[in-house]
Amino acid sequence: MTAVHRAVLDAGGPVLRFDQPVLADNSVSDIPVITNLFGTTERVAAGLGVSIDKLDDLGEFLAALRSPTPPNGLRDAYSRWPMLKAALAARPKIVKSAPVHQVVRKGRDVDMTSLPIQTHWPDDAGPLITWPVVVTRPYGSSAEDVDLYNAGVYRAQVLGRNTVIMRWLPHRGGAAHHKSWAEQGEKTPVAIVLGADPATLLSAALPLPETVSELSFAGALNSARLRLVAAKTVPLLVPAEAEIVLEGWVSPTETAPEGPFGDHTGYYNPAKPFPVMQITAVTHRHDPLYLSTYTGRPPDEPAIIGEVFNRLALPTIRAQIPEIKDLWLPPAACSYRIAVVSIEKRYPGQARRVMMALWGMLPQFSYTKMIVVVDTDIDVRNWDDIAWAMATRMDPGRDVMLLENSPMDYLDFASPRAGLAGKMGIDATTKIESETTREWGQVMHTSPADAEFAADLVSRCFPDLKT
Ligand SMILES: Cc1cc2nc3c(=O)[nH]c(=O)nc-3n(C[C@H](O)[C@H](O)[C@H](O)COP(=O)(O)O)c2cc1C
Repeated sequence: MTAVHRAVLDAGGPVLRFDQPVLADNSVSDIPVITNLFGTTERVAAGLGVSIDKLDDLGEFLAALRSPTPPNGLRDAYSRWPMLKAALAARPKIVKSAPVHQVVRKGRDVDMTSLPIQTHWPDDAGPLITWPVVVTRPYGSSAEDVDLYNAGVYRAQVLGRNTVIMRWLPHRGGAAHHKSWAEQGEKTPVAIVLGADPATLLSAALPLPETVSELSFAGALNSARLRLVAAKTVPLLVPAEAEIVLEGWVSPTETAPEGPFGDHTGYYNPAKPFPVMQITAVTHRHDPLYLSTYTGRPPDEPAIIGEVFNRLALPTIRAQIPEIKDLWLPPAACSYRIAVVSIEKRYPGQARRVMMALWGMLPQFSYTKMIVVVDTDIDVRNWDDIAWAMATRMDPGRDVMLLENSPMDYLDFASPRAGLAGKMGIDATTKIESETTREWGQVMHTSPADAEFAADLVSRCFPDLKT
């Protein structure tokens, strides 16, 4: 299934539905597996409730939400997005009965091995839930206070009939909630939502401001209040329309080695300990679908989602570093390890200032090993343009900035020590004023009239030639 999904995703193909998936014991499940839901940027945008060309507006809205002094920005954004404002203000609707409770299995009837949870890669440690929306709330909150809820996508390894490992990285919202319960010696109530609606899935994956609840934001994207229902065995509300929900408790102390699993870097992660969760109920629709995806060397679905999210983040980044015109995190470089940024250059040393601002001010660039800064005539999404800028506007002795011992994710085995790595900034901008003593080259351009003449002549002489 991973190989089929990969081939279809690579070709920009449709959402896939695998009927009658074969389980580990060779029996056949009657629950179909859905993959490639977010296999194109168009589908990701649709999941956010907008078309591709409206993404920039949504990005402006997110920037306004993050603004430390919101009034003007937020008022402007709200006036452009009145439904978003109304929906963000509207609390999710709590309902008494829900499709996700059409079938309820508790206690001994819980058996996750009967779900078609994929083992994605040949050397994976076992079945892995890859598209869960993990719902938690902090210690001391009430189950009704949805504004305090966190929803994040954290993969979960299935250990047995009623046990999974919850892999929330330490800086995630779910891990922070877990810490608040564990400090009181209490287990954390958790709901793993499988097959949430697209807006909820994407809101859970988006790095939203702390003050915005993912569940309210999902309602805002859908222009409708999200419908929630009380879970059966944990004090939490869960999306009423989901396909499947796994309810349970994460231990304050017990951990188990998670992995190895193939990951977005294109390598298997080493096993690491993460908390263990006991599942107390599995609830689902009469005929549920199981949503899955693989993570692997790009392209994978998270890389496609990342491309859209990076576009959404641009206005937020520009609010901090206004000279940035465009920014690209190549999916092939794991979507965050290399950044290419174009700037309106006005003064010497500006490219270095931009590199340091990206690394220093914006947490999402902590693990970006290499930043290439170019002028605005360079298309940051075009490797040929980038190569030309580096080949003609950069001197390795002068224009490369190297740092040591800066933060890095533990998955980067190329860095000399776990968690600490070097960084490289390449200034491939035109050198101005004190940056150079030499006469700089003049870029050659074909005149528009000549270009038009040539295009016309070529198309008439060589009609089959693609120019
Ligand atoms: C398919 C997919 C799988 C992911 N797996 C994990 C994971 O295993 N652990 C993790 O901490 N984050 C994972 N993430 C990233 C988080 O979901 C994402 O950063 C999210 O914004 C975290 O939400 P939070 O800030 O509320 O914790 C994954 C994202 C996607 C799209």
